[in-house]
Amino acid sequence: MDNVIVITGASSGIGKATTQLFAERNWNVIAVARDKGKLKALQNECKGKVSVRSVDVTSLEQVEELFEFVKSEFGRLDVLVNNAGTAQDNSIYDMSVDKWEKTMKVNLRGPFLCTQQAVRMMKPVKKGRIINVGSVRSVWVETGNCGAYNASKFGLRAFTETVAREVKDDGIAVSIICPGITNTPLTNPENNQDTSWWLRPETVAEGVWFMCSVPENVNVFQVVLFGTKQNVW
Ligand SMILES: NC(=O)c1ccc[n+]([C@@H]2O[C@H](COP(=O)([O-])OP(=O)(O)OC[C@H]3O[C@@H](n4cnc5c(N)ncnc54)[C@H](OP(=O)(O)O)[C@@H]3O)[C@@H](O)[C@H]2O)c1
Repeated sequence: MDNVIVITGASSGIGKATTQLFAERNWNVIAVARDKGKLKALQNECKGKVSVRSVDVTSLEQVEELFEFVKSEFGRLDVLVNNAGTAQDNSIYDMSVDKWEKTMKVNLRGPFLCTQQAVRMMKPVKKGRIINVGSVRSVWVETGNCGAYNASKFGLRAFTETVAREVKDDGIAVSIICPGITNTPLTNPENNQDTSWWLRPETVAEGVWFMCSVPENVNVFQVVLFGTKQNVW
């Protein structure tokens, strides 16, 4: 059977581009997001070559069901991409508790729940990759309106390193890709804003592809990519 990949946040932006790329290259893709309409449209665009699942990655029950489906339908899991994410704008001092908690739930609890399930499938066969979609904000913070986002993405980098070390002798490679600003609905550019130098989601998808294309015993642990004009520091 062809390789099997689960991609969360697959209905839009980076996750959608990654889904399309892996489907084109004949992987079995399980595309995960909440919006059923967008998932259906994605399935049509990929000419039925992807399986879609409506799952809220912050729900333990729904994540357990997702991996039960992967086990029963495919019997294996080669790669998990924890891509679903949110950015709730605000500086920390005037952020509502709700916004803080939503950011942490999607950006950290989601990867935690999915990673646990994936490791349980990968450990017995001593093989697999888990790629977390961080951000340049996993490496350098930005002041302004992204206090919780910075904290969650730095946390995701720490989570990645922790799991990588926990499972390194189980044949599982855990890594993080850290894109700079990318033209997706999340960043929602204003009408006359110059986005010509922003990353395209397809470029980030190629980064994920590269991380999956090295030999099984190699972990490309951290990829940081951004438009040369971005002031990330
Ligand atoms: N765009 C950038 O500039 C940029 C830069 C660096 C890193 N990133 C990271 O890249 C990842 C993807 O971002 P994007 O820019 O492609 O954003 P996007 O276009 O807004 O896509 C976000 C995806 O996440 C899904 N999602 C959100 N909450 C979810 C939940 N609770 N359960 C399941 N799926 C959920 C959304 O689908 P539903 O709403 O249907 O669930 C959607 O498919 C994020 O982790 C983001 O932090 C983005």
